[in-house]
Amino acid sequence: MRIDIITIFPELLESPFNASIVKRAKESKHVKIVFHNPRDFTSNKFKQIDDYQYGGGPGMVLMIEPIAKCINSLKSKRNYNEVIFLTPDGKTFNQKMANKLSNYKNLILLCGHYKGVDQRIRDNFITQEISIGDFVLSGGELAAAVLCDSIVRLIPGVLGDESSALNDSFQDNILAPPIYTRPSDYEGLKVPEILLSGNTPKIESWREDKSIEITKKLRPDLFKD
Ligand code: ADE
Repeated sequence: MRIDIITIFPELLESPFNASIVKRAKESKHVKIVFHNPRDFTSNKFKQIDDYQYGGGPGMVLMIEPIAKCINSLKSKRNYNEVIFLTPDGKTFNQKMANKLSNYKNLILLCGHYKGVDQRIRDNFITQEISIGDFVLSGGELAAAVLCDSIVRLIPGVLGDESSALNDSFQDNILAPPIYTRPSDYEGLKVPEILLSGNTPKIESWREDKSIEITKKLRPDLFKD
């Protein structure tokens, strides 16, 4: 998979992509992540990429020209499955969307800033608008990092144990069961006996029961689906 990220602050994304699973996925060539700065696509001699909004009002708006040129330049090189704009008024991201996006070959992520981006970009270049929650970030970069992390770990071959992504919380709309490791008894705090029994079918059934119990308790809304 290839992910092209359009951002005026690539440095915000350097550390999330240079550690842990995403780093490994880049090294093993399961994913290529490339940054593009709209400042490199402006004809403005001062490299200005934002301006005041027509009609008045607070805040700067990312201009159409640098973003349009950047997206067109990428699209002239390959086909993209989606051109995604990260914005608080987009569709709220979830595991189902991550699963779908992880099957794609080429994605563009556009990170907004300031007050947002000229509406003509949203109307004519963007195929999907995604929010990571009902709160406002300073820009789309951290949202893009969240999206990439959740997508990249789902690409087949990225996680060592193929089944581990399938057992994540939210796969099948259910939360993951509790997990334990050594020691089995820490100052009287004991691991449930069943997990030490070696009886795999019974353990699986215990885990399923616990998942359902926890989901009903913590996220009853997930049961509606
Ligand atoms: N940009 C600013 N806030 C955001 C959010 N909540 N989700 C995605 N992009 C954003």
